[in-house]
Amino acid sequence: MIYAKCRSNSKINCVHFLHDNKIINVTKMTQLDKRYNEFKELLLEKREKLLIIKINNPRKKNSLTIKAYIEFAKVLQLAGEDESVAVVAVTGTGDVYTSGNDLSLSMSGITDFDEFLLDTDVILKNLIRSFYEFPKILVAVVNGPCIGIGMTTAALCDIIYCTDNAYFLTPFTKLGLCPEGCSSHTFPRLLGKAKSIEVLLLNQKLTATEALRLNFVADVVKPQELDTKIWPKIMDITRLPLGSLMAGKALLMKAHNKDLESALIEECAELQKRFRSDEFFNALAAFGQRKSSKL
Ligand code: COA
Repeated sequence: MIYAKCRSNSKINCVHFLHDNKIINVTKMTQLDKRYNEFKELLLEKREKLLIIKINNPRKKNSLTIKAYIEFAKVLQLAGEDESVAVVAVTGTGDVYTSGNDLSLSMSGITDFDEFLLDTDVILKNLIRSFYEFPKILVAVVNGPCIGIGMTTAALCDIIYCTDNAYFLTPFTKLGLCPEGCSSHTFPRLLGKAKSIEVLLLNQKLTATEALRLNFVADVVKPQELDTKIWPKIMDITRLPLGSLMAGKALLMKAHNKDLESALIEECAELQKRFRSDEFFNALAAFGQRKSSKL
């Protein structure tokens, strides 16, 4: 057993991380206040000053709906202002981080396509800004495939940890789309020009091993080591002085925020065109075909 949950009055109230059967860390599960009750697409968990956001749509491999985009932006806004939160970690339920944008919902129930695209543009910009403007430490714990917007937002986090079965993929050109989530700025900076072209334009997977070699992720562990190696490390961050962490992060981000904002604006303008292209419609139809051919 890797960790044990201790219960009182049938509520889980702490997590003991075990290593060689020795308790190495005891984390109190903390009750979330009612402002966090409204979230339906994301599972929220609080361990002392750590807020864990779990992408929770296992039936569709944790794909992200428009509703999930809105919830993400709201929860990051709340956590940024919440004095009881020092660190936020994003992860996925099950063995997938996220399969990216929910392709099955993209076209259903839309009566006015232009209005839908304008709404989507605002929602996407809010989501992306909520990541790069987040004032505290934001960690991605990538527990499996991390696709599309999952990878681009992970690149906006301060640290990425991943499991050895994880991979990163942005199949944008396969879908007739273009780089999003500021990836036209972040990927060349983080991965170098050639690799970012392979990933962003040529649909090539970045394996966990490659991601570690290129310093895209800070550590790679086996899935069963998340509880003994990664979560305790993240709990340690919550115990550092918050004011100092936030001041340091603000200094580090200052030079990039303008570039991120202009990348976001340019990408969103191009995406509006791409969403209207035959290339995108054909790709969506192919995804639907792939589903119906399985029936
Ligand atoms: N949007 C909507 N539904 C999705 C989805 C997505 N992004 N990704 C997976 N699903 C659904 C599948 O359609 C399938 O539904 P079904 O059981 O009703 O047929 C279910 O999730 C399981 O997916 P499946 O492909 O059978 O699982 P897998 O383990 O073989 O592969 C993935 C998992 C994530 C690699 C694969 O589903 C995939 O490539 N998804 C699309 C990723 C993508 O292109 N995202 C957009 C990025 S911009």
